[in-house]
Amino acid sequence: MMLFLDSADAGLIAERATGGLVDGVTTNPSLVARAGGDFFDGLKAICEAVDGPVSAEVVATDAATMIAEGRKLRALHDNIVVKLPLTVDGLKACRALTDEGHPTNVTLCFSVAQALLAAKAGATFVSPFIGRLDDIGQDGLGLIRDIRTLYDEHGYVTYILAASIRTMAHVEGSALAGADACTLPPNIFDAMIRHDLTDKGLDAFLKDWTDAGKGAL
Ligand code: G3P
Repeated sequence: MMLFLDSADAGLIAERATGGLVDGVTTNPSLVARAGGDFFDGLKAICEAVDGPVSAEVVATDAATMIAEGRKLRALHDNIVVKLPLTVDGLKACRALTDEGHPTNVTLCFSVAQALLAAKAGATFVSPFIGRLDDIGQDGLGLIRDIRTLYDEHGYVTYILAASIRTMAHVEGSALAGADACTLPPNIFDAMIRHDLTDKGLDAFLKDWTDAGKGAL
């Protein structure tokens, strides 16, 4: 499963990307607004920090302007993926941009029916928001499982990108449910590596080593 960072903070992304574990980045207008600075400069910096897909979202609501914004975003860097909302106009823009050869990410997906439409519109990625579904008492991970079944049964090649990740259970559950990618807030990404027993185990190994009078290899 590809691991993306869900952030528009170029500095933070550059720092995390050095370990080779980050496959791409997703942004949205809220994250970009929070990061501040110039949108296009920020995006360029992100594209230079990570060698993988970087989703950047349009802000128009009509298809024609979404297409124009998508082309403008794509002109910025080859790794840009045009992120479009799951609306009638968003799907029209998705089809048009896909037909022009641009990669797309259809976002704000909350149902199997919506995911079916995103695939039919030729989306490269579809982003089901699992945390926001859990927030309203629905089963976010269940949606990932159902979309996986739908796409496999019908041969759709759209990648499932699990988004709105709040917990480690969301990350692990998305992987086990067959998501192709998962986009993580930086705090969840950082937490993935840690386990108390790993820390305790390493302390014990190193203590035994030094107690036995051993030094550097
Ligand atoms: O990038 C979209 C997404 O991951 C949003 O997450 O936490 O705002 O629901 P959240």
